[in-house]
Amino acid sequence: MAGKFLARAPLWPLARTLGAAGQAELLDHRSGMAVALACAGAQVFLTGRRREKLEETCREARALGGNAERCIPVPADITLEDEVEAACRLIRDNCATLHGLLNNAAVSQNRQSPWPLQEDSPASWEKMFRTNVTAPWLVSRAILPHMISGGEVRIVFMTSEAGWAFTPGVGQYNITKAALNNLGASLAHECAARYPQGDIQINVLNPGEARTEMNQGSQRSPYTVVPMILQLLSHPVGGPNGRFFHADGRHLSFTYAQGHERSLSETGEEAAFESAAIPISSPTAPSPQPWWRRLIARRAS
Ligand SMILES: NC(=O)c1ccc[n+]([C@@H]2O[C@H](COP(=O)([O-])OP(=O)(O)OC[C@H]3O[C@@H](n4cnc5c(N)ncnc54)[C@H](OP(=O)(O)O)[C@@H]3O)[C@@H](O)[C@H]2O)c1
Repeated sequence: MAGKFLARAPLWPLARTLGAAGQAELLDHRSGMAVALACAGAQVFLTGRRREKLEETCREARALGGNAERCIPVPADITLEDEVEAACRLIRDNCATLHGLLNNAAVSQNRQSPWPLQEDSPASWEKMFRTNVTAPWLVSRAILPHMISGGEVRIVFMTSEAGWAFTPGVGQYNITKAALNNLGASLAHECAARYPQGDIQINVLNPGEARTEMNQGSQRSPYTVVPMILQLLSHPVGGPNGRFFHADGRHLSFTYAQGHERSLSETGEEAAFESAAIPISSPTAPSPQPWWRRLIARRAS
């Protein structure tokens, strides 16, 4: 989904109003964000495979006061390179400068097996990676030159808590979102290095849960993510690049994924090993010993 902004008006009140007025039943993040962008005065190009869903969203934008003429459905399967190229061509032809891109599309874990990482087929793995990782890369790669030539790049990748989680049963989805996290941050840093004078703001947003086709059990409105989307897509020059945000405004800092800052010898691990090098046959052996310690202890004895 791509948008061209007309104004950087205060956007939080708008998002709240839409949240209150928007349709209550099943929509998706894409529709909520497109409606909000259209109502904020952006020209919006809306992609997806189902034309009728895209047109429904444009009708919703018009019903809430957005200009339907500026909410343009661009049906495309973004896993297919030629359809991505055709969609980007249409956007380039209709829009001299493009300011924002929202990489939102994803598929959730198929539930054919409770143990997908052990039992799912390579085809199912590839399908999910194609939609959740390759497609946003194809879209970003295809449209970036147009954004760069316009002087302003705002890209948001929609991730999930799953990108930092290891929940059994949804392993492939977890992995695709972890890969997407790195795609967003790596692209941000690569663009910053290539265009040091450019106004590059490429970030990753965790929308939190919301009631959509993907998550029909949730009671939260997809409009809850709108304020952060509007902020990230319309931030003035000097904004964040290569960062991770949550829909509630938090800036994720990976506190639960910090690596060792010192080497093993500096941390005193070796000394700890020396004192714990009790033969494993001893009934007083500390347990459990890591396998590598047990191995070294066996060799040393
Ligand atoms: N809902 C939640 O609780 C939740 C929580 C965390 C993260 N997220 C993330 O938020 C984003 C939006 O999810 P959602 O909840 O709105 O899911 P959703 O209701 O299933 O919507 C997925 C969207 O992706 C589009 N899509 C899927 N495959 C596509 C393809 N090959 N080409 C073009 N478009 C495609 C779908 O449109 P078509 O079917 O018309 O193509 C649909 O608009 C996803 O990245 C998801 O991982 C959602």
